[in-house]
Amino acid sequence: MSNSNTIRAIVVDPSVPERLVIRKFERPSSLPNEAIVQVASVSLNRGEVRRSQSAEAGWRPGWDFAGTIQTAARDGSGFPVGTRVVGFLRQGAWAEQVAVPTHAIASLPDAVDFKSAATLPVAGLTALLSLERGGILLDRAVLITGASGGVGYFACQLAAQAGAIVTAQVRRPELVEFVKTAKAHQVIVGEQFDRYAPYDLVLDSVGGKVLPSVLEQLASDGICIIFGATAGADITFNASQFYGKGGLNLYGFILFHELKKQPASVGLARLVKLVANGSLVPHIDLEASWTEIADVARQLLDRRFAGKSVLHLSN
Ligand SMILES: NC(=O)c1ccc[n+]([C@@H]2O[C@H](COP(=O)([O-])OP(=O)(O)OC[C@H]3O[C@@H](n4cnc5c(N)ncnc54)[C@H](OP(=O)(O)O)[C@@H]3O)[C@@H](O)[C@H]2O)c1
Repeated sequence: MSNSNTIRAIVVDPSVPERLVIRKFERPSSLPNEAIVQVASVSLNRGEVRRSQSAEAGWRPGWDFAGTIQTAARDGSGFPVGTRVVGFLRQGAWAEQVAVPTHAIASLPDAVDFKSAATLPVAGLTALLSLERGGILLDRAVLITGASGGVGYFACQLAAQAGAIVTAQVRRPELVEFVKTAKAHQVIVGEQFDRYAPYDLVLDSVGGKVLPSVLEQLASDGICIIFGATAGADITFNASQFYGKGGLNLYGFILFHELKKQPASVGLARLVKLVANGSLVPHIDLEASWTEIADVARQLLDRRFAGKSVLHLSN
């Protein structure tokens, strides 16, 4: 840490490579329902890295963090000083210390290390809560596009764990074996979605040409959850085919909205339990010091790794 009145945090600066750099800031102050957490590890998500590429100077990115409670919330909620936690912030989590509402953190058992925990907030909660939109998944056919990504890799494991028959879609053949380690039962490379159709539930984050293709392969009364559009947001699909099938649903998922219905602490506690008992395994392809933020952000934008990337704040 820098000195007693300042902390360091990652901030957008348009004049540096990848627009991300570590700078000093005032130590955070907390509201009565907020704890101060000393951050040990953070993870990167596509959304916040992409936003950093156009955000105004001074914007502080960061959604996912894991660390130790340094100051407990004054209203008595949450966990005592010294508790290891994972948490979610709407921005600014890539910092040595953060002030976080206690409804957005969950405690960590010894079996869950900081780096695994740091992968969970956005990617894990998106996978968990979007799958829950599909109801009971036992013996249901579930298709997950972009399965080699941070969210997709968790979604495959969680759907399989819930009893679904999981089809994972990847765009590169070299990632087939990788997504099988996420318990996908079958894998589609490219866009041959008819191979294992029809699907009761589709989780799509690719968009582009993929979304209209998967809509054609939904079973009657099936539901497609859209939570991303990595390959393009403007799409055209056949509306009469869509309504003609009967009972199809299209659901726009945004985590910030879902967390108004249920605080992040609830889903995080469930995910942590699954990691602790070995039934959910984060895949961290890239670990680095947070001083390498610019390089790691570039690698993420270029999709040079699969699964998650984690930065450590120990130096
Ligand atoms: N709505 C929400 O609340 C919410 C929450 C979390 C994430 N998201 C969004 O959901 C998407 C996935 O998030 P993530 O964290 O899993 O991202 P990620 O780790 O970067 O993964 C992206 C996935 O999409 C695939 N992909 C990338 N470009 C593609 C293309 N042109 N055609 C087909 N597949 C492509 C990648 O395949 P390769 O491995 O082959 O590159 C990878 O499987 C992102 O767009 C993200 O912004 C939204």
